[in-house]
Amino acid sequence: MDKGPTTKIRVAKLYKSFGDSQVLRGVDLEVHQGKSMVVIGGSGSGKTVLIKCIIGLMQPDEGEIYVDDLEISNLNEKGMTEVRKKFGMLFQWGALFDSMTVWENVGFGLRHQTHLKEGDIRRIASEKLALVGLRNVEDLMPSELSGGMRKRVSLARAIAIEPEILLYDEPTTGIDPIMADAINDLIVEMREKLNVTSIAITHDMKSAYKIGDRIAMLYQGKIIEIGTPEEIRNSSNSIVQQFIEGRSEGPIKGVDPSLLMKNSQQMRHEDRERRIERK
Ligand SMILES: Nc1ncnc2c1ncn2[C@@H]1O[C@H](COP(=O)(O)OP(=O)(O)OP(=O)(O)O)[C@@H](O)[C@H]1O
Ligand SMILES: [Mg+2]
Repeated sequence: MDKGPTTKIRVAKLYKSFGDSQVLRGVDLEVHQGKSMVVIGGSGSGKTVLIKCIIGLMQPDEGEIYVDDLEISNLNEKGMTEVRKKFGMLFQWGALFDSMTVWENVGFGLRHQTHLKEGDIRRIASEKLALVGLRNVEDLMPSELSGGMRKRVSLARAIAIEPEILLYDEPTTGIDPIMADAINDLIVEMREKLNVTSIAITHDMKSAYKIGDRIAMLYQGKIIEIGTPEEIRNSSNSIVQQFIEGRSEGPIKGVDPSLLMKNSQQMRHEDRERRIERK
């Protein structure tokens, strides 16, 4: 008898606040083995916080996260290190090690998680770099790269260990449209050829429709809608419609001066995060 799809990642009633700001207010999300979930939502809605909780870089206040039926939110560091081996992650801001060359960055996971020889690590790094459209950059330092190149190096690093689960935070933001489409194709290929389970965060609806088996929208701390790209496109929820059409008018509040203040605070905060990620 067909057992139906296997759940690879399950998030249940996840809560996370920073001071008075309740960012996640009961997020439920389930991703099946070999499928790709896209999470959309406004800037500051908590998308990055959600995937940082899933990979154990942030501790949720309440709720449960299961990976292959193992509850991970209360694991100790040793247990979490084991679980993290299943994950590859593309950070929103690239997060490369500034003191390492490009190929050393891409080979970082291979060096720490396998017994491969240096020559093999370098060869695999070059192969993965070629997959993201980069050649002859192996010996450059991250500071010598453009923003889009850094992002692609980070993607090459995420896929280098051929993980079971890939988390992509804004994989195509800051990359030209043609390269962005090639990255989308690569993400689809990772799923089809390697049966990878993934969660991708994006604002880019073209990318969301292309890479997502399902799309979930995060709004005011909860998943307010989830469905196939077709279902999301035809959603009757006016909040979802406003977001996917990118309209400033609608139920999602426009920009008021207090929000602008908040945004500049958030930008400073993100700037700090970027520096921390890069370390
Ligand atoms: N480490 C932290 N300390 C304090 N506040 C944080 C921290 N991380 C995130 N936040 C806050 O949580 C909220 C959600 O941030 P998050 O980075 O998840 O947004 P996002 O949905 O990924 O936005 P964007 O689309 O701009 O990347 C923001 O208000 C942010 O300032
Ligand atoms: Mg983010």
